[in-house]
Amino acid sequence: SQLNGMDFNLSEEHQAVRNAARDFAQNQLLPQVIERDNLQKFDTGLVQAMGELGFMGMMVAPEYGGGGMDTLAYAIAIEEISKIDASAGVIMSVNNSLVCWGLEKYGSEDLKQKYLTRLATGEIIGAFCLSEPEAGSDATSQHTTAVDMGDHYLLNGTKNWITSGNTSSVCLVIAQTHPEKGHKGINVFAVEKGLEGFTIGRKEDKMGIRASDTHTLMFSDVKVPVENRIGEDGSGFKFAMSTLNGGRIGIAAQALGIAAGAFELSLKYSKERKTFGKPISEHQAIQFKLSEMATKIEAARLLVYKAARLKDEDKDYIQAAAMAKLYASDVAMWVTTEAVQVHGGYGYVKEYHVERLMRDAKITQIYEGTSEIQKLVIARELLK
Ligand code: CAA
Ligand code: FAD
Repeated sequence: SQLNGMDFNLSEEHQAVRNAARDFAQNQLLPQVIERDNLQKFDTGLVQAMGELGFMGMMVAPEYGGGGMDTLAYAIAIEEISKIDASAGVIMSVNNSLVCWGLEKYGSEDLKQKYLTRLATGEIIGAFCLSEPEAGSDATSQHTTAVDMGDHYLLNGTKNWITSGNTSSVCLVIAQTHPEKGHKGINVFAVEKGLEGFTIGRKEDKMGIRASDTHTLMFSDVKVPVENRIGEDGSGFKFAMSTLNGGRIGIAAQALGIAAGAFELSLKYSKERKTFGKPISEHQAIQFKLSEMATKIEAARLLVYKAARLKDEDKDYIQAAAMAKLYASDVAMWVTTEAVQVHGGYGYVKEYHVERLMRDAKITQIYEGTSEIQKLVIARELLK
């Protein structure tokens, strides 16, 4: 379509990534997407297939099993996947941005050999554990503690809302080590499933992204080897924030995909559905919806690609990522709501996909920093 034709002068490599992700989404994700949503089914086979196609560690260096691609390629892949299945989009985003990226940038060579090589290929997947029952937006107020015992840390606490909480094999857990130092006393640890005292809690029954599993995780005197601490002592909060800066590009791309998916379905449907003797696409009210959808999606795409480009050029991208996420998530919510309207009663039932996209859109305004938090981040950059 026109929307993809403009495409920011995409290279052949970027086009190839888009085509590969689109084919995978159409051929493998689409057939059972409604069933997975209904049953809240995380499909391990599909995640492995995404790994085989290189979608689980796209930006990781090839020497650690990754695709060695740039952030723009990654955003394009998430966009295409999320057009069809936003649950697959978030599973990808967490593994690529929040787990692989931080481990590659700040992890020791041993940790990379031990975990990154398998995470990047999708052989195993990871989780990122920052949020707690009383620390969501207020992320510095960590109650989970990690006490330095010499050769290991003793980890205690509860993390909630953890994406891939059940299906992940390794979790990056943020915890308070030196409470007197506030956010400068926080650390991050690579914690393996199966360690004594590490329990997987209840699964959340969610409005959207239902095929992604979200769990509470509990730690009771879990012994984490010292070598599993990532980075310098006290660098855990910085780790979390810098990881989230990139993660927000992934979620912005997910939101963009959700919006674009709903738009494509609406465009097609509007040419097929007839009322008052003509396709609804010939009613100006519907045309105006389509025009506004397309315009907002294009603006969101430019913000997402710009943030990705800045990151790839090693420029400051904190504000650009926050703007992309803030805007794209609002566009996703607005476009999907209008998409249901364009479909009339058919839009309200599962078979036509747009109701799912509308439910999926809502989370993009909440996780990886709510819209209010993105505004706070943007304002701080503006006022610096
Ligand atoms: N990039 C780099 N550093 C940052 C940063 C950013 N975007 N935001 C804050 N920091 C740094 C600050 O510079 C400061 O460091 P120094 O003291 O060394 O200067 C430190 O972090 C603390 O910052 P503040 O003093 O600003 O702390 P605050 O408590 O006032 O607010 C906040 C911080 C921006 C609100 C932060 O807590 C935040 O981002 N909250 C949202 C948390 C979030 O996004 N959670 C997502 C969980 S993961 C997830 O959701 C995954 C998923 O769903 C799929
Ligand atoms: P709160 O922080 O309690 O916010 C409540 C409301 O108050 C929001 O509207 C918020 O914007 C507003 N608010 C709060 N503070 C301010 C302020 N200073 N100024 C203005 N408004 C404010 N976390 C992880 O660590 N890892 C994951 O993998 C993960 N996956 C998730 C998956 C799902 C499906 C969900 C629902 C959440 C996930 N999260 C994850 C947690 C998510 O990041 C938090 O829910 C989010 O950051 C908001 O925190 P909260 O829920 O505690 O809301």
